[in-house]
Amino acid sequence: MKDANLTRLTIRRPDDWHLHLRDDAMLAAVAPQSAAHFARAIVMPNLVPPVVTGAQAAAYRDRIRAVLPAGADFTPLMTLYLTEDTDPADLAQAHAAGIAVAAKLYPAGATTNSASGVRDFERIRPVLEKMAEIGMILCVHGEVTDPDIDIFDREAVFIDRVLRPIRRWVPDLRIVMEHVTTADAVDYVRDTHRNLAATITTHHLIINRNHILAGGIRPHYYCLPVAKRESHRIALVQAAVSGDPRFFLGTDSAPHVDAAKLQPCGCAGVFSAPNTLSCLAEVFDVAGRLRKLEAFVALNGAQFYGLTPNAATVTLVKGTPVDYPAQITTAEGPVTVFDPGFPLHWRVEG
Ligand code: DOR
Ligand code: ZN
Repeated sequence: MKDANLTRLTIRRPDDWHLHLRDDAMLAAVAPQSAAHFARAIVMPNLVPPVVTGAQAAAYRDRIRAVLPAGADFTPLMTLYLTEDTDPADLAQAHAAGIAVAAKLYPAGATTNSASGVRDFERIRPVLEKMAEIGMILCVHGEVTDPDIDIFDREAVFIDRVLRPIRRWVPDLRIVMEHVTTADAVDYVRDTHRNLAATITTHHLIINRNHILAGGIRPHYYCLPVAKRESHRIALVQAAVSGDPRFFLGTDSAPHVDAAKLQPCGCAGVFSAPNTLSCLAEVFDVAGRLRKLEAFVALNGAQFYGLTPNAATVTLVKGTPVDYPAQITTAEGPVTVFDPGFPLHWRVEG
């Protein structure tokens, strides 16, 4: 059957290879949203204070497990937040014990809670060498932070100034370039034949910078890396629907209460956990590539992380527009759900 005629699609249960679950009341509100649709998620460590040690990651994992609904089929895969003082031995121990599957590199100042990140990349070279040796994956927020670099160029400049040198120092290190937003990053990943992959978010497949800025400023679309011009969005869609195993879903669902988004200086982050799969099905359907959706959400990421795809399946069913909440309620205040700007026709069935 042609993709255009599909109205039901059964795929392996998806995984989210980049997710912010936060802590405390926010964690309790958002973890069930991801657990409803995803079997596993790479959980970002940018808490306050950040998740730096193996002991902190184990404690955070326990807090996540504690708020999951009874019977939830959801495994949090923990990451360590790299600092210039990260102890390679602690990191290796956390990896060997199955506590942390990856470590996250935030350039200092690049995004939410990244102040403890890395300023001088040479200083983490011993940690990166250890990670390559033990087969631990490096997740990278790929933006330079230099104030003289235009915010729309920060990802492309990061590739040349930081990523290429790191790959020369430690070619055996397996790297995921997180939430890529540019054709430059897509090309870089495509042209690299070893140890490099990229996650793509749901929202970057849907919005470009006009959605944020044209006709009024829309803070709920503001995230980092910031969405780029339309030609970049098209490059991301082409990568996502291509089936190329080096591209997979990382939603970067990043809840902030509306009171923190709607400010003179609002927070970066898009909260897409509740409707991500419906959004993605719509994007792949419009592209005529529904049969590649499973690779993007459920196969490619597992393969790069060396994990088995999930045995369970979900079925997506096409019909009348799907209802989803405009906001979710949390004890900290309402959190607005990503609005793709078009109706969603694909419903997720168990
Ligand atoms: O938009 C973003 N929000 N980008 C990030 O890199 C971090 C995230 C957050 O933690 O809010
Ligand atoms: Zn993120």
